[in-house]
Amino acid sequence: WRDVELAWQRTLVIIKPEAVKAGLIGEILSRFERKGLQISRIRDGRIDRALARQHYIHHADKPFFEGLLDAITAGPVVFAIVEGPSAIAHVRNLVGATDPVKASPGSIRGDFAVELPFNMVHASDSPETAEAEIRRFFGEGA
Ligand code: TYD
Repeated sequence: WRDVELAWQRTLVIIKPEAVKAGLIGEILSRFERKGLQISRIRDGRIDRALARQHYIHHADKPFFEGLLDAITAGPVVFAIVEGPSAIAHVRNLVGATDPVKASPGSIRGDFAVELPFNMVHASDSPETAEAEIRRFFGEGA
C-alpha cells in the first residue's frame, strides 16, 4: 500500500536524554509501531551544544533557550526516522502537547513527562523541517 499512499511522509524523532535515562526507548518506539508507522532508520548518539543551538536556533531569543540546550545535551539520545501515511501529524499526536502539563493522558508526554523542558521526545513539525532534521542527524544522503 506504500505505492498508492499519496500522503506518505517521514519525520525525525529524537528520544531525549531524560527518556533514555528513564528506560523508555522501547516504550516510545513501540507506540509509533503500534500506530502502523515504520522505524526506517535508528541510531544512538549525543547532541553537543553547537548542534543543539543549530537545531533549536528558532528559539534562541527565548528565556528557556539555555535550559533547553542543557536538557538536550545532558546525555545519550536515540535518533529515529519514522515513516508512514501522514507520519508527521500522527507522530506529533502520539507525542502530545509541548508542555507536559497540557499534554493529554495517553500521549507520550501526557503519560511520562512532568515539567518543561523535559518533555521526552522531539518530533519534526512540517515536511520541510523533517527533511532538514533528517539530513542534520542522519547525514546529507539520508
Ligand atoms: P517547540 O518547538 O515550541 O515545541 P515542540 O518540541 O513540541 O515542537 O519547543 C521546542 C522545545 O523547547 C520543547 O520541546 C521544550 C522546550 N520549551 C521549553 O522548555 N519551554 C517552553 O516554554 C517552550 C514553548 C518550549
